[in-house]
Amino acid sequence: MKEQLAIYGGPKAKTTPNYPMYPGGLEIGEEEKKQVLEVLDNKYLFRYYGPAGVESKVRAFENAFKEKMGSKYALATSSCTGALISSLVACGIGPGDEVIVTGYTFFASCAAIVSAKAIPVIAEVDETLTIDPIDIEKKITPATKGLVVVHMRGVPCNMDAIMDIAKRHNLRVIEDCAQAVGATYKGQYVGTFGDCGCFSFQYHKTITAGEGGMILCKDARIYDRCCSYHDTAACWRPDRFAEQRFEGELFCGSNYRMSELAGAVMLAQLGKLDRLNAAMRSHQRRIIEQIKDTKGIKVRPCNDPEGDTGICLMFYLDAPEKVAPFCEALKAEGVDASGVFNSGIPDWHIYAHWKHILHKKTSSDVCCPYECPYHVKNPEPVEYAEDMNPHTLEYLGKVVHLDIPAQMTDEDCDMIAKAINKVAEVFA
Ligand SMILES: Cc1ncc(COP(=O)(O)O)c(C=O)c1O
Repeated sequence: MKEQLAIYGGPKAKTTPNYPMYPGGLEIGEEEKKQVLEVLDNKYLFRYYGPAGVESKVRAFENAFKEKMGSKYALATSSCTGALISSLVACGIGPGDEVIVTGYTFFASCAAIVSAKAIPVIAEVDETLTIDPIDIEKKITPATKGLVVVHMRGVPCNMDAIMDIAKRHNLRVIEDCAQAVGATYKGQYVGTFGDCGCFSFQYHKTITAGEGGMILCKDARIYDRCCSYHDTAACWRPDRFAEQRFEGELFCGSNYRMSELAGAVMLAQLGKLDRLNAAMRSHQRRIIEQIKDTKGIKVRPCNDPEGDTGICLMFYLDAPEKVAPFCEALKAEGVDASGVFNSGIPDWHIYAHWKHILHKKTSSDVCCPYECPYHVKNPEPVEYAEDMNPHTLEYLGKVVHLDIPAQMTDEDCDMIAKAINKVAEVFA
């Protein structure tokens, strides 16, 4: 006999409290305090100079991060948005260029392209909810210069297909790894496939200093140009005021430097990354194991299940109208779950809500970059519409999302699986 749903007055399937989704943030402890106090005791607060004989925490974090990820260069930044803009500029992307980006990502991935004065072209996701390589090919024009591919919600993109397209069309690849630190694709860390890999250490991310970012890259020139854009004061140069050592080394940039206090916190947080990802992966798999054969739901497929960081669980229902009642019923069971796309509820992770892109809003009356006079390689203007990527909206309309906090227990996982199965029996 079916157990009565909590929403109809039955007993709750999950009786334990839910943790907020701040995996690294909730683990802040003695290690972070020790690192930060060292910065204060040393009075060394700026990465490029301070009292003699002190090692920069930001530099130490960069070294540890690039060693862990297997990358040649690493540059810490103040945010992933700053990392993305610096990477685009460093790759020579700018006026007249188009960059293809996915329509399911935090808005910053797209805004960074506009900040670099290039025109974003928004592509579909496939069922993995990462960029659809087939749609990338369809959207390439003679003006396409790069791709921003997003390893969304911990899941790696199809990097084999993406790198193959990039090679054939001579495109730059910038990986947005903001939501996927420690994710792998076929055993290789994401962020090390393309020209640049960008990470976020904002508070909601797996490891955090409240704010922060990182760029990984393998090319010395791109690395120097990232340094140049992220620190227009040129403190990063061996001789700050020297003539440029190569064409394109010096130009007007911005300030996206990471502070020593953030670097100190990140050094300690990096030491916790593997444990956090292992915990989330194990929770996610434990739940999936118990729901994978449940009728009416389909777990989000993954380009490489081994490489998923496990930060969330996403599964499809067979019709979008079932999502809201399903989530309501799950909430009544004690499980925090939500739908992803609802045209009436604004969410800056879905292109259909990116009003300032859809309406080409710019900071001045000159409609830069959309009406760029250098946009000549593609005779067609890039146009946007809410319904231009129907597959993306269809997938996102049918999906249910649950965070997987690292702090959960096996008992929590079993209760979540029980709740999903209980609700699915009635609603799915
Ligand atoms: C996919 C994605 N890209 C970029 C960003 C921007 O990161 P930051 O807040 O560090 O600039 C975020 C932040 O939420 C994100 O989720």
